[in-house]
Amino acid sequence: MPSSRLNSLILALPKAELHVHLEGSMQPKTLLLLAERNGIDLGCADEEGVRAMYRYRDFPHFLALYGTLTSVLRRPEDFQLITHELGMEAARQGTRYLEVTFSPATHYRNKSIAVDEMMDAIAEGAQAVLQEVGVEMRFIPDHVREYGQEFCQLTAEWCVQGRDRGVVALGLGGGEQGRPASLFADAIHWVQAQGMPFVPHAGEAVGPEGVWDALQFNPPRIGHGVRAAEDPELVDYLCEKRIVLEVCPTSNIRTGCVASWNEHPLRRLWDAGVLLTINSDDPPMFNTTLLDEYRVAVTQFGFTADDLARLSMNAARASLLPAEKREQLVETFKRGYKRRSARMDCPCQRASSPCRDHQSDKSILLHLTPIALSTSCNIGVGSEIGTPFSSPYLAPIPLIVLIGRGEPTPYFQSCKNTLSFSSTCVPSMGCSSIAGEYLLAGAVRPSASAIART
Ligand code: ADE
Ligand code: ZN
Repeated sequence: MPSSRLNSLILALPKAELHVHLEGSMQPKTLLLLAERNGIDLGCADEEGVRAMYRYRDFPHFLALYGTLTSVLRRPEDFQLITHELGMEAARQGTRYLEVTFSPATHYRNKSIAVDEMMDAIAEGAQAVLQEVGVEMRFIPDHVREYGQEFCQLTAEWCVQGRDRGVVALGLGGGEQGRPASLFADAIHWVQAQGMPFVPHAGEAVGPEGVWDALQFNPPRIGHGVRAAEDPELVDYLCEKRIVLEVCPTSNIRTGCVASWNEHPLRRLWDAGVLLTINSDDPPMFNTTLLDEYRVAVTQFGFTADDLARLSMNAARASLLPAEKREQLVETFKRGYKRRSARMDCPCQRASSPCRDHQSDKSILLHLTPIALSTSCNIGVGSEIGTPFSSPYLAPIPLIVLIGRGEPTPYFQSCKNTLSFSSTCVPSMGCSSIAGEYLLAGAVRPSASAIART
């Protein structure tokens, strides 16, 4: 499949991400900004310097660097900012739902930041994301294994207190070697008795024994878990119990937990029938994005378009939303796939010129600026799908709009702002002007029907 087609397909695929760290998602620019604002010397002055820092000798080296970069987060507003940035970036990539891990004890223990204020700020960031682009975010405070049992109990208590601010589980991260989940059994049992699930990292830096140990606690999902592939009995167990693995392929390569793409067990686990999801872990720190991770599933592991849809559906189904909300998410995803496959099933999609019905039926990613902030947003040729357009104004709002006969995506429907963009965008994107007019009409007064009629 040509790479531009693959990019469009992945961008248009409705996605949910279950394994992404808040602190590890800070963009280099934001990291530098916060370091300066909070008077932290990171030892690098520009984004290039930050990227150069993101090369790891091994997994412990990665964790050490993780500790350094989290030191720039000092005030509740910092957490609000990075939560907002993460959600907006997710929207740009066509991700509809996020479960975000963060490590409250790191900030409380090392910098005396009040956890309640931190959680309020994170929830405010998430609320703004929901209002602006319709992406839902939930949170998984994780215990960092190095901090010992008492901090695990404290983190468990913060999880329960944070339920009203979107907390859905207790996580477990940090250095796995010599620190199995069972070391924290008391706190895990306590949190579970409060009705809160436990979702640990396991089988990332240690072998199958780390996963077996974590399975004593009946987690619905395991972070990474890729080394389970070394034990056929464990693979059978994961299949039988329908335990979902949150696989983060590029992370495993960059931290050295898996030596090469050839050795990565993603394909073997998939073929064995383990329920898998695809995730980015700490995206800028691994120079990746969720879109890249889905791309890797195709380019490194030979996944098909249908496989990608199954991966994304696995994530929607394994989300920790209440059952009714989860079902809504699943239904939204199903509608997204139907729209896509109706288009892809048409023979015109394989021909050099599309049929009349699909002449203007293409998905494009538009970044629109709220009219309250600017009177027009000059969308040019660069806004074709997969080529993020950068607005000269304030933060652009990303929308994926199907021009032509498709329905608009939920982004469009969920966006509450009044939007405007210049008419020059349409011809420059090669869309038929009639579709363009409908699109304009719909964009100026966002209305699902205006676009659905095109
Ligand atoms: N904290 C952030 N990323 C992590 C990972 N991949 N494993 C364990 N702890 C982490
Ligand atoms: Zn992780």
